[in-house]
Amino acid sequence: MNYRITLLPGDGIGPEIMTVAVDVLKVIGNQFNLNFEFQEAPIGGVAIDATGEPLPKETLEKCRNSDAVLLAAIGGYKWDNLPRHQRPETGLLGLRAGLGLFANLRPAKILPQLIDASSLKREIVEGVDIMVVRELTGGVYFGTPKGVFETETGEKRGVNTMAYTESEIDRIAKVGFETAQKRGGKLCSVDKANVLEVSQFWRDRITQMSSEFPDVELSHLYVDNAAMQLVRWPKQFDTIVTGNLFGDILSDAAAMLTGSIGMLPSASLGASGPGVFEPVHGSAPDIAGQDKANPLAQVLSVAMMLRYALEQPAAADKIEQAVLQVLDLGYRTGDIMSEGMKQVGCKEMAEVLLKVLSSSEV
Ligand code: IPM
Ligand code: MG
Repeated sequence: MNYRITLLPGDGIGPEIMTVAVDVLKVIGNQFNLNFEFQEAPIGGVAIDATGEPLPKETLEKCRNSDAVLLAAIGGYKWDNLPRHQRPETGLLGLRAGLGLFANLRPAKILPQLIDASSLKREIVEGVDIMVVRELTGGVYFGTPKGVFETETGEKRGVNTMAYTESEIDRIAKVGFETAQKRGGKLCSVDKANVLEVSQFWRDRITQMSSEFPDVELSHLYVDNAAMQLVRWPKQFDTIVTGNLFGDILSDAAAMLTGSIGMLPSASLGASGPGVFEPVHGSAPDIAGQDKANPLAQVLSVAMMLRYALEQPAAADKIEQAVLQVLDLGYRTGDIMSEGMKQVGCKEMAEVLLKVLSSSEV
């Protein structure tokens, strides 16, 4: 099979971890007879420096003309004070909107090898396996009106709008129900229906849809309670479906349960066309270029890409197994280091991983 993959290394540690992902794809390609054609494009800060814009048109075009997009990370101190339309984050939001990526899947699964890296007690996090399904192209991130306007009295007023249409709720709800069906059969919808009209509407639509999925057990939580429950007893959750802003916040909290955000991949999918696969962590400008980055979330994002976009589950399994094996061998980057383990940099972690991948049978 031939696949065209657009690579968006971005900023900070992005290029270092992307190199590892490409090496992994080359090895896997050989083993599974998959031919990858790579095309690279700038996004975020590097794109601002090169073109003045965080998401150049050519970048979006290349992404559209590919089977899948692999993104590393964007942003850094250098671009933090630019006007909003020139910020790296605006490039990421433009990519999500431009490709229609309304469904963001963020797994938070505790790995037994890293259980001590969690800041919570072992008995609370052991066995945690949560999938956050976050709506990604609507809600308060994109609703209008937005901006800073002058009121009649001459005072300035900042405005964003949280809005969801029926079809926006229905399509993400469907992804939520179907994801739960493939997992533990439990879906928790998170909203703020006790205060927000848009949330009550969200809750009503999702409740209505639940009759189509009698095999899924649906529950609802207010977002403040959901945040509390996530750290109190995370094992009660299987699949969570929620809006853009609540999903942004809860997925970080869920990620931290696992001990290292440096281990978590994500997938952003649309109704059709290429999806974007990226680590949950950011560009970590404080350690960029120092060979300290953990490349494993990027590698696991490659596995998600193979599973969700390219329909190569065996290749995905193989990568995930190799990551576990490397951890079993005791190799750790600084972010997941614990006593008695062997601390390595990004490059050495990659070497060990590639050795494991190459030596194991298909
Ligand atoms: C994320 C990030 C982004 C978001 C930022 C960088 C725009 O926090 O992917 O969770 O808020 O969606
Ligand atoms: Mg976030």
